[in-house]
Amino acid sequence: MILAAGKGKRMRSALPKVLHPLCGRSMLGWVIEQALGLGPERIVLVVGHGGEQVAEHGRELAGDVPFEVRVQEPQLGTGHALQVAADALSADAQRVVVLYGDMPLLRTESLERLVAKQVEAGPGASALLTTCFDDPPAFGRILRGANGAFEAIVEHKDATPEQRMIGEVNMGVYAFDGATLVENLPRLSNENAQGEYYLTDLLGLAVGAGKPVHVVAVDDSSEGQGVNTLLQLADARASMQMRILEEHLAAGVQIEDPHSTFIGCFVTIGPGTKIFPCTYIEGEVAIGADCEVGPFSRLRTGTVLEDGAQIGNFTECKQTTMGPGSKAKHLTYLGNTQVGERANIGAGTIFANYDGTHKHTTVVGERAFIGSGTIVVAPNQIAPECTTGAGAVITRNATTKRGETWIGMPARRLGAKDSESQADQDES
Ligand code: UD1
Ligand code: CA
Repeated sequence: MILAAGKGKRMRSALPKVLHPLCGRSMLGWVIEQALGLGPERIVLVVGHGGEQVAEHGRELAGDVPFEVRVQEPQLGTGHALQVAADALSADAQRVVVLYGDMPLLRTESLERLVAKQVEAGPGASALLTTCFDDPPAFGRILRGANGAFEAIVEHKDATPEQRMIGEVNMGVYAFDGATLVENLPRLSNENAQGEYYLTDLLGLAVGAGKPVHVVAVDDSSEGQGVNTLLQLADARASMQMRILEEHLAAGVQIEDPHSTFIGCFVTIGPGTKIFPCTYIEGEVAIGADCEVGPFSRLRTGTVLEDGAQIGNFTECKQTTMGPGSKAKHLTYLGNTQVGERANIGAGTIFANYDGTHKHTTVVGERAFIGSGTIVVAPNQIAPECTTGAGAVITRNATTKRGETWIGMPARRLGAKDSESQADQDES
């Protein structure tokens, strides 16, 4: 069950909060990944009024997993959100895991530990994730009895000054026993500081009924970081980015400056590849081994760098394959371009792939040498081992043959848009 009915007003953005992206996925996308990591029988998403766009996005990401949406309007608290969605649970649901749509950093391993604990504790048990902060923010505090056993959660706004000193807080992630959940949901009251139905009271109710409640502690408190503002989104993005970079570093990718390197979650990179500073790699990109990228490069979706390819400063690639050992080192745009083995693309080359309506492909043969400042208008085919002179403009569908050299600029008037402007031109 993913709770995402909150309005997200503090984002000050027309885009629904959970659709904001970080490192290649929407916030909700990361949360659905967390859920899918558990192999769920179904996913239930709770949205607020006008949540169709969010619901549609969630349904797409859930793929084959049955996906239900419930609308909570008005929003009377996290417990109320579960009440609204309770009918979407099957009566015999053994386990209901609750996640928040605005907690992208939660790790699947933490969820696995949560569920394992609940399973181990046997029928009727619940479990929740907690973490510790030195200076706890406005989270619910964990109350424990004299023997150290979990007793209840008290919300920050309801807590006494002593209770606010407790560093152990509720992350808001739970694994409930389905039957106990359904039984206790109608018992929630809203007699508290916020006048809300608190989901957190379900745990106290379970303890009161003699049902076991287990606490699973998470060391990395950033996993519990919720996103309510653009500043918090930026922080979450930085944490997520560092995780992605750490994985690449561990796999032998030489990232010189992690602080100025942006790599999305769908990028694969082979060992021995060097990524230089101020580089942005987004979408589905596959980089082979022993390549070089950057500094100041941008690789967009559909880019494939085969082993040993090099992309240098102020070069952008999209829907482009660079063959083994090929190079484009300076100031170049490669769009819908297939570059062959060991071809060299000179400084300032543009593959003009867009005619205003469609994108077209250019193929550059192996060991071709494209001179500085060449413009290749697509669709086109530069034969293997061809050379172009500096500043050459190769118009579409040129009939290049292996080993030829092409030079010069063929620009000339092709006509005007309408007769009036034609007349203007004739007069002047
Ligand atoms: C909740 C917990 C608190 C915990 C904190 C962790 C309760 C009462 N308190 O705090 O103990 O430390 O999370 O982040 O549960 N939402 C709805 N409908 C609602 C209200 C909220 O769907 O009516 C969703 C929000 O979109 C969000 C999530 O629930 O994804 C949490 O809401 P938020 O207001 O941030 O949590 P708190 O109540 O402050
Ligand atoms: Ca709240």
